[in-house]
This record gives sequence, structure tokens and C-alpha cells, in this order.
Amino acid sequence: MCGIVGYIGTKKAVPVLIKGLLSLEYRGYDSSGICVLENNSLEVVKDKGRVKNLEENPILNTLNGNIGIAHTRWATHGIPSKENAHPHLDNSKTFAVVHNGIIENYTDLRNFLENKGYTLISQTDTEVIPNLISYYYSLENDILKAIAKTIKDLKGSYAIEVISPLLKDKIIVARKDSPLVIGIGNGENFIASDIPAVLNYTNKFYFLDDLEISVISKNSIEFYDIDLNKVEKDVKDIEWDCASSEKNGFEDYMLKEIFEQPTSIMETIGSRLKPNEKCYFDDLKIDLKDINRIYIVACGTAMHAGIAAKYAFEHFCKIPVEVDMASEFRYRNPLIDKHTLCIFISQSGETADTIAALKLAKSLGSKTLAVVNVIGSSITRVADYTIYTHAGPEIAVASTKAYTAQVVLLNILAVYFAEILGYSSKELEDFKMEILELPDKVKIILEDTSKIQEFAKEVYSQKDMFFIGRNTDYAVSMEASLKLKEISYIHSEAYAAGELKHGPIALIENGTTVIGIATNPNLVEKTISNLEEVITRGANVMIVTNQELPNINSKLNIEVPKCNPMLSPILSVIPLQLFSYYIAKNKGLDVDKPRNLAKSVTVE
Ligand code: G6P
Repeated sequence: MCGIVGYIGTKKAVPVLIKGLLSLEYRGYDSSGICVLENNSLEVVKDKGRVKNLEENPILNTLNGNIGIAHTRWATHGIPSKENAHPHLDNSKTFAVVHNGIIENYTDLRNFLENKGYTLISQTDTEVIPNLISYYYSLENDILKAIAKTIKDLKGSYAIEVISPLLKDKIIVARKDSPLVIGIGNGENFIASDIPAVLNYTNKFYFLDDLEISVISKNSIEFYDIDLNKVEKDVKDIEWDCASSEKNGFEDYMLKEIFEQPTSIMETIGSRLKPNEKCYFDDLKIDLKDINRIYIVACGTAMHAGIAAKYAFEHFCKIPVEVDMASEFRYRNPLIDKHTLCIFISQSGETADTIAALKLAKSLGSKTLAVVNVIGSSITRVADYTIYTHAGPEIAVASTKAYTAQVVLLNILAVYFAEILGYSSKELEDFKMEILELPDKVKIILEDTSKIQEFAKEVYSQKDMFFIGRNTDYAVSMEASLKLKEISYIHSEAYAAGELKHGPIALIENGTTVIGIATNPNLVEKTISNLEEVITRGANVMIVTNQELPNINSKLNIEVPKCNPMLSPILSVIPLQLFSYYIAKNKGLDVDKPRNLAKSVTVE
């Protein structure tokens, strides 16, 4: 995790860096720091906690330098403190480094440096990097060579930026398994962990690949591999506009992103699905006749999107689907071969476990397909095929619009596969029309949120909540429960409604809140019976439904538009996203930056 940003040009570096850090805070907010090259010396300012603390430091106003690097931290090695905040300097204060990632062999490197007479003052893994650069520079007298030697010594993951008075008008960056983009300006250049951090200044980007180094000045950008052979790279135009990464009058990014869902779903459907035409995906030529099993692998919300979409693949394509957490999949010797298609879902395209699972699947000969939101991210460069959700930048740590875009896209993919496999049917055609109707149906749900706000106000002080449903309603229960945990810190569990009697019902007592999701016409009666059972035991029940319900003593029923049950997670999740949001607001919590979490989990 952690976010890094860099600037080189003619502007004052500090405001650009602070703006970039503020937008990268979703990657961690334990401490932050800046280093600017000021009259040929390194000026470092750091603080514990949020970027706001750093921003308020008056020393920053005195810094006029045009070259700088900055960092916002999600602590891994060493407590969140000013001392452990980046940038870190070498002993001679010649090299300043910011780092996102984990250096796994830092203890060995630290011992090596201490034996050479270096003193490391922080508890971080990062501090070995500037000191190793310094060490190799003392042998090589060439900074680029010293950096290349240093990164050859590093095990683990890193995106680093290096500045030094010796480099004068350059910043050197390198990466392995942690993201880093270079934004191309006019007489200035930008570096960031993620595109939105510098989207205000440019739409043109280079994406650094693993084990590449870049030497950046205000008018040039050069690339090298780890052996310092020159590398040519293509510029990518990013279509996101900077307004899409601002709050646009909403109190929080999460609320804005919830309300963006009609648009993000529409963009994701794009031209892939049109009335009375076959689905179409550019450049997706997988030989499906050869595939006898699909694995969907992801983490967190992205995995829940996979669980919600499994039903459509099995129903329409008749291929068995298994959904797994990337962190488990990668260590369990999955039974995959060239007849397996592995689909990896990721908003960021940078999640460490998902990348590792993808590499494993590839090494075992399976075909790999990535479903990703961030263009050019690491996963897209490893997978055989990539299809993009077009949700736009998602800034809030809790994922909302990325989830619905993922479920939509996966359902379209299932239709596409079914058509290729020759399973056309009236049901499939109706399903396609229903996908096209989703943006309008989401708009209807968002028109009136007052009942959910009121219910959230009634129950926000509770300690535990339960979400139950069957089939795709169970899939959405899992996502709703995760959302609640993430941003409101209320303990919550999702259960398949039929499992309730096998244990969880023992936890229901007077006043316990249970949320039932009942949108499947074939299963609604079953779920309602289960809800009756908890009501009898004193539970406070809210139901999200699109069905005629029998008489039930629930506190609140939230109606969502009718749709095919395989698509219902896309609609029924929306009131539940809002429910978590309003609960967290009632508790006075920072919705966009929940404690201990980061949006992009680039470490194991
Ligand atoms: C973190 C985020 C979640 C996200 C998960 C997977 O836990 O907080 O919102 O679902 O990572 O991230 P990815 O970028 O791979 O979708």
C-alpha cells in the first residue's frame, strides 16, 4: 500500500505534491512526508497521521524548489511515527527515497549495511534503500548504476523515487510489483502511484513495468531495464477527466460514487451489448470449446462480484464455476490446466494476492482473463486477456461503483460466452434487455433514500448485525455485510438464509438487526420463513425486496425494481451501500478512510 508522488518542472513542487498526496490518501494515512530539492540540498518535512497535518506545517511555505517527492504511508514495518515516515535519507543525506511496497530481505540488507558502518535510525524496511544506493555510489560513482545494483539486491515489492543534489535536475524511479505511473506534461513531468493523483495536469501516461527504471527530467523521460539497456515505451491516453476524481459537491467520495452508479453501469455496458445484436468484446478470442471449468479469483468486494456472477456463467454457459479468494487460491495447488479459464477481478489491478494467483494460473497453463477498472495496471500486463469495467476512478476505500460495474460486466461476459457456445434462447435475449435497463432502475432506487437514512439512525449504535438471503441474494448479503464492517466498524455476518438454523440463530436476541434480501421469486417464501423465525426471537428486520411479500412483521421493507434474479445483486446492493454509509455517518466516522484499511492492498 502507501502512495507516492513526484514532480519535476517549473512550478513550485510542494503544492503539486500535497494535492497528489491528498488524492492518494486512500492508499494509507498513517504518516506523510515530502522532500524537495531546495538550493541543491534535500529539505525533508514529515508528520504523523493524515496529510492534513503535513499540509499545515509552515515550513512547507518556505520551500520553493521545483523538484520533489512525497509519500503517504500505510505502516507495515515500524509503527506509524514521524521517524518512520518517508522520505528516508542515507547517512550522508545525499539520497532521498520514498517507497511503496515491502522489502522482504531488509533484515539481511540492514545487517550488511551495519557491517559496512552505516547507521539506520528508523524501524522501516525502506531505510536500507537510500543507504544501499549510497554504498553502491561509493563504489560506482554513477547514480543510475548504483540504483540498478540496489534494486537487484531487493527482494519483495517496491515502487521507489529517488532525488539527490548529485542528480540535480532529475528524478529516478523504479518498480517491481507496486504500481507507478509517469504523467507527461509540457516542460514538466509527474510521478504517482495512481493516475487520479496527477490527472489535473495531464492525460498522457507511461506505465512502468516490473524491474524497469526511469530517469525523468522536466523535458525528457528515459527508460531502462535492470541491466541498464534502454527500453522504449508507448504513451497511453487516459480518458478519465479530473472532475471524476473530485467530490463534486458530495460530502464524501463514497456517497458520490454510490450516486454515480447509473452512469458507471451505462459506461460499462458501453457498446458491448446492444438490443438485438450479439454481445461483442474487442480482442477477446478465447477458444471456449476447449474450456471445461472456470475459476473466478479475487479479493474483498471484487470476489463478492465473482460470487454474484457465478450463477449466470453456470446457467447460460453450462460450465462449472468455482470462486476463490486469491489469498487462498495461490497456496492451495488448484486443479487447473489448459482447459481451465481463470478470471481475475480487480478494481485497482494492483492487489498483490490477485497478481500472485494470476501468475500461478498462468504458470499452470490455464487461460487467464482480467476484469479490471484501472487502465494499464499491473494485472492487465500479466493476463492473457483484459476487459475493463468503466467505473471511472474510485477513491473511497469501500468499493461501491466498481462492484456493480464488475457484476454487470461479468454478466455480459457470461452472455457473450453463451452466444459463442451456441446457447441462444429467448431467456438469454430477455436477459440482455434487462441488463440494458439496469441504469434506469438504479436511478429509481437513488431517487429516495429517506427511509434508509431513518432506519440507519435507529440502529447505528448496535454492536452486531446479520444479513441473510438465498442464491444471488446470499451473494449480495456478503457484500452488504462487508460494507457495513468496513466503514461502520459494526460486527456483521452474512449467512445463507437456509443455514441460519445450523448455528447463527443462537445469536439472535431481542433487538438484533437482521437484514433480509428477498428478490428471487422461487425462494422468497423460504427466506421470509427464515425472517419470521428471527422476528419471533425478537429481531429487528429490514427487508430489501422486489416481490409481493406475505404479511410479515418487519420494521422496514425497501422496494427495488423487479429484475432477473441473476442481476438483482446490482440493484439490491444499492440500498445496502447507503445503509452502511448512513450508519457510519451517524457514528461520526470517516467514511472514505476507514481505520486500518487501504484501498489498494499491494502487500500480502
Ligand atoms: C481492498 C479494498 C476493497 C477491495 C479489495 C480488492 O480490501 O479495500 O475495497 O475490494 O482490496 O481490491 P481490488 O483493487 O483488487 O479490487
